[in-house]
Amino acid sequence: MIDNKNIHKKGKCLKIINNGPLFGECDISTSKNAILPILAASLLTKETVVIRKVPKITDVNNMIFLLKAFGAGVTVSKDTLTVSARTIKTTSPNEYMAGKLRASFLFMGPLLAREGYVTMPLPGGCRIGLRPIDLHIKGFKALGAKVITVSGHVITWGKSLSGGTIYLDYPSVGATENIIMAACLARGTTTVIGAAAEPEITDLVHFLKSMGAKIHTIDSGRIIIEGVDTLGGTDYTPISDRIEAGTLMLAAAVSGGDIRLNRANINHLEPVSLKLAEAGAEIFPYSGGLRIKGKGAVPMDIVSSPYPGFPTDMQAPFMAACCIANGVSTVSETVFENRFLHVAELEKMGADITVAGRTAVITGRGHLSGAEVCATDLRAGAALCIAGLVAHGETIIKDIYHLERGYEDLEGKFKRLGASIQRMS
Ligand code: EPZ
Repeated sequence: MIDNKNIHKKGKCLKIINNGPLFGECDISTSKNAILPILAASLLTKETVVIRKVPKITDVNNMIFLLKAFGAGVTVSKDTLTVSARTIKTTSPNEYMAGKLRASFLFMGPLLAREGYVTMPLPGGCRIGLRPIDLHIKGFKALGAKVITVSGHVITWGKSLSGGTIYLDYPSVGATENIIMAACLARGTTTVIGAAAEPEITDLVHFLKSMGAKIHTIDSGRIIIEGVDTLGGTDYTPISDRIEAGTLMLAAAVSGGDIRLNRANINHLEPVSLKLAEAGAEIFPYSGGLRIKGKGAVPMDIVSSPYPGFPTDMQAPFMAACCIANGVSTVSETVFENRFLHVAELEKMGADITVAGRTAVITGRGHLSGAEVCATDLRAGAALCIAGLVAHGETIIKDIYHLERGYEDLEGKFKRLGASIQRMS
């Protein structure tokens, strides 16, 4: 049985010492941002759903906790999860249950479609931004549901949803996912215009279609869902994690290493691989993975944007790379309004960064110095790992529970690639 204690192995921080270029190979785990909506979608059927290559990360464990709280039977055997949601015993989780994980809001669409009534605590903001849910609510209303927000909760009800047309003012990943899941069981056809197009959305659509959903994805951000009466069970393996793959590729590139990443899908990584190629890295895709040879860090200009643009989840790691280069780089974050918390931590390592609004200007001096730093969020933690791998001296990264939310055994992967990294209490 996967549970957090297996992930929170003893030790709350990582000690990293520069051990030169990374060499070797490792397997990329399943995508956190693909499996979370897929776990929520497993409530759309009473039949058995089997999900394979489930990563041992705390966000998955918290979703399993919630699935059971809603009444689903969940069993885990090695990395295979079986979900049987024959009956739903509640659609009103309490703060403790839902508050553990922002992605719990992804249960809203499936529970509304299946039970017709859901109460969820407002997911609230987090360190990287306000994380509004107005587009999720707009979608539920367009499907005929009523939605009110009262004392920190969102209550939505609608006995039988009916298809509608929804224009998303912003290509929100979560709102797109919630709307698709709810529309699968609505009467009639739903058209989503301005939908998000991340690979994780495509994977959710594939998962739902394997259950019998009728969904057509048109390239121009348009998704058409024909509601069906019921969905069946399935046996599914979600895609690999493009952000984990991009993180390890970047670590190899800046350290001048040569690594192979099995399960990495180059088609999900275009903006990242093209920026790395600009930095002189050579990338050799092969069937079932890719090899990357790095040449060190060079100054870059990065602008994050919704897929197929440069992924916001890679912004912090690339900023760390820019600090190591010789020269001036710029990093602009257009997706989240407060995703520069890693700047202060990189500055502790000697980085020279000036932030003006959503743009950071980095004056790279060719190296960083090891220091004691804090992971302020999941991707900032990954950035600090990359900085520590190439810094002069020893780096201690605290609060690594953030990393454990979304990277399966990241330190083990780095170790397999030759890094000097160990867990400390
Ligand atoms: C998903 O978050 C990912 N999380 C995030 O990954 C990722 O960074 C993000 O998509 C963007 O790619 C999961 O998939 C679990 P959004 P989500 O809704 O769905 C605006 C990580 O590190 N917005 O696309 O919350 C708002 O301004 C995490 O793995 C609205 O205005 O992202 C927000 O800043 C971090 N109204 C922007 O969209 C809404 O109703 C992006 O949010 C919803 C969103």
